[in-house]
Amino acid sequence: EGSKLWGGRFTGATDPVMERFNQSLTYDRRMWAADIRGSQAYARCIRSAGLITEQECQAIVVGLKKVGDEWEQGVFEVKPGDEDIHTANERRLKELIGEPAGKLHTGRSRNDQVATDTRLWLQDHMQNMKAFLLQIIQVMMGRAQSEMSVLLPGYTHLQRAQPIRWSHWILSYCWMLQRDFTRLSELGARVNVCPLGSGALAGNPFSVDRHALATDLGFESISHNSLDAVSDRDFIVEFLSWANLLCIHLSRWAEDLILYSSKEFGFVMLSDAYSTGSSLMPQKKNADSLELIRGKCGRVFGHYCGFLMTMKGVPSTYNKDLQEDKEALFDVYDTLEGILQVANGVIATLKIDSAKMRAALSPDMLATDLAYYMVRRGIAFRTAHGLSGACVALAEKKECSLDKLTLEDFKSVSPHFEADILQIWNYETSVDQYSVYGGTGQTSVERQIHNLQQWLDTQ
Ligand code: ARG
Repeated sequence: EGSKLWGGRFTGATDPVMERFNQSLTYDRRMWAADIRGSQAYARCIRSAGLITEQECQAIVVGLKKVGDEWEQGVFEVKPGDEDIHTANERRLKELIGEPAGKLHTGRSRNDQVATDTRLWLQDHMQNMKAFLLQIIQVMMGRAQSEMSVLLPGYTHLQRAQPIRWSHWILSYCWMLQRDFTRLSELGARVNVCPLGSGALAGNPFSVDRHALATDLGFESISHNSLDAVSDRDFIVEFLSWANLLCIHLSRWAEDLILYSSKEFGFVMLSDAYSTGSSLMPQKKNADSLELIRGKCGRVFGHYCGFLMTMKGVPSTYNKDLQEDKEALFDVYDTLEGILQVANGVIATLKIDSAKMRAALSPDMLATDLAYYMVRRGIAFRTAHGLSGACVALAEKKECSLDKLTLEDFKSVSPHFEADILQIWNYETSVDQYSVYGGTGQTSVERQIHNLQQWLDTQ
C-alpha cells in the first residue's frame, strides 16, 4: 500500500471491490486539463511563497505540461492505484521529473484541489452551454422573422383559443431560453470563486498568496472560509437546478412540436434527419428526437434530486459523499449538450404547413372579437361577453358556424350590432389588433424581435 499517495499509515491492502467503489478516475479523468492548470498555478504559488526553488517550479510546470500532453494524445497510461485524476497526475509527474513532484502538494489537499478543478471545468463548459443557447435563439429568431405572416390557432387548455402568429409562438420559447442564458450568467459569479489555498479544511499554513493564485487561474474572487470552501457544492446544485428549468422549457417546446407534427394537427413536419421509422408499420415517421428531448429531462431532474439527497446529511467539511457530485454534473452536462444540439437541428430543419395551420383556424376563435366589437361601442365587457356568448349559442342552435350568422341574427341578439359586424371575420385583422407590446400583432412581434436582437448583440 506504500504506492498510494496516502499509504504511509496503512499496512493492509484495499479490497478490490472497495478499490473500484472508491475510485473516481473513470469519470473525473475528463477534468484532466483543469487539474493540470490548477497544479501549475499552485506550483507558481508555492514558488512565490519560497517553498520550492525556481528550478523545481520549472520542472513541475514543464512536467505537468507533459502529463497533459499524454492525456491530450490519449496515451496517458492509467496504473492500478490511480484513484482519481489528482492522484493519477501526481503519480505520473513523479515518474517524469522525480523528486520535485513530491513538493507540489505542500499545503494543498485533494479537498481544495478537487473543488478548484470542478469549478474550473464547469466554468469552461458553461461557455459551451451559452454558445449552444445563443445558436438556438438565433435560429428560432430567423424563422420568426421569415415566417411572420403565418397564423395558427393559439391554445389554452389545448382548446383552440385565439389566432396567433406562428412567429409569436416561436418567440415565446426564445424568451424562455433568453432567461436561461441570463440565469446561467448570473450563477457564473458563484462558480467563479477560488477555493484553492483552503487545504484539507483548516487553511494553508505557508502564507500563500491566494489572490495571486486566483488571478493566475482566472477566478474572479476567493472563498472566505476554508471549512465552507472544501465542502461547498452549491455551485453544482445551482447548475443542476438551472438545467432543470432549461429542460422544462425544451420539454414543453418538444411537446408542442410532437403534437403539431401529428396528422391530427399537421402543422409541422420534422426533417428525416431527426425522425425515425417503425420496424413494423411502414407508414410511420416518429418524432423520436423530440420525444428524447422530453424524456431525457427526467434524468436531469433525477440527478438534481439525487445529488440534493446526497448533500443533505453531509457533516461539516469534506466527506467522500461529495465525490458523487461529478457523475451528476457530467451526465447532466452531456445530456444537455445532446438536447441542445438536437433541438437546434430540429428547429433549423423543420418544415411548416402554413395552409394546415390556417385551416385549423375557425370563426368561433373570434368570439372574443365580437365582444371587443361591442366594447369599442361603449358596452361593458361583461355584458359584451354575454352577448357574444349568445351569438355562439345561436350559431350552435342554427347548426352553422359563427361567421354564417346574418346581420338579422346578430341584431336579434343585440341592437348594437351594425352591418360592419360582418367584416369581423378576418384573421389578420384580428391578430393585428394585439399591437400592444408583447402581443401577437405584427408590429409588436417585430418590436419583440428587435429587442431580442438587441439583447443578442450585447452577448
Ligand atoms: N476524488 C475525490 C472527489 O472527487 C477527490 C477528493 C478526495 N479527498 C479525500 N480526502 N479523499 O471528491
